Amino acid sequence: MATLTMRTRRPIPAIGLGVYKSEPGPVTKDAVVEALRVGYRHIDTAAIYNNEADVGDAIAASGLDRGDVFVTTKLWNDDHGYDNTLAAFDQSLDQLGLDYVDLYLIHWPVPVLRLDTWRALERLTLDGRVRDIGVSNYLTRHLAEILEHAAVVPAVNQIEMSPYNYRSRLETINLCEEHDILIEAYSPLTKGRKLDDPVLAEVGSQYGKSPAQVLIRWALDKGFVVLPKSINPGRIAENHEVFDFFLSADDLERLDALDEGLATGWDPTDAP
Ligand SMILES: NC(=O)c1ccc[n+]([C@@H]2O[C@H](COP(=O)([O-])OP(=O)(O)OC[C@H]3O[C@@H](n4cnc5c(N)ncnc54)[C@H](OP(=O)(O)O)[C@@H]3O)[C@@H](O)[C@H]2O)c1
Repeated sequence: MATLTMRTRRPIPAIGLGVYKSEPGPVTKDAVVEALRVGYRHIDTAAIYNNEADVGDAIAASGLDRGDVFVTTKLWNDDHGYDNTLAAFDQSLDQLGLDYVDLYLIHWPVPVLRLDTWRALERLTLDGRVRDIGVSNYLTRHLAEILEHAAVVPAVNQIEMSPYNYRSRLETINLCEEHDILIEAYSPLTKGRKLDDPVLAEVGSQYGKSPAQVLIRWALDKGFVVLPKSINPGRIAENHEVFDFFLSADDLERLDALDEGLATGWDPTDAP
């Protein structure tokens, strides 16, 4: 299993199954069971996805040891503030049916309260119920603030990332690299929007790989953790079959040139 190493020296599996918009209930549970069966060891959920319980059920049903699966969940915007965060985390842990999570993230950079929230996340690491903590949708000014005021530097920053917005996000990526904060690429398949781009098919044809596999390999070749979502068993397997090739420097360059500042979801650019 391919892993990257966080600044705390703990490993994180390079591919995680995303479960945003995976319907709660058997749809999510079956997708996670299938992912674990074909070799994924990392699941990315969030309180707002309303499927933490199904992720927990799937891990229990998989027969794998808890320590063999890396679980991330996230604090939602309504739960910011020190005490609220601790209470929201208890709820997430209860939903997951676990006694710790590997990674707990602030989902969005909610103004005013986010530093208090971060202190609560730091507290949770001391209790041992969270192994690592990080942020999501943080751009340079949000990162600068946390780097200036916090005791613990985020282990990861989970942001929307694909060739279609990579160059637009270089400032954020460079700041993360400077502080040894791993980038986690979310919506790496552009939510499906760009999968019919002929450039992806042309690049993929040289390696016998699909457009989705090209996008996932691109993220891995950049050194990012990558979080493709699928509920389809064939695509879950396809998205994991990316460890038998590397993209050439020319192909990486060609993919990087696809930047168009794409944002398929909420864009934190103007978040104060
Ligand atoms: N932190 C944040 O704010 C944030 C925001 C967005 C996402 N995320 C995380 O990142 C994960 C991935 O992002 P995402 O869910 O937005 O989108 P994504 O992974 O870019 O794309 C998922 C879409 O692509 C389809 N798909 C998957 N594999 C495919 C393949 N091999 N060929 C063709 N189509 C394929 C899926 O359909 P099927 O399911 O039907 O296969 C789904 O419609 C999320 O699930 C979540 O964990 C985090």
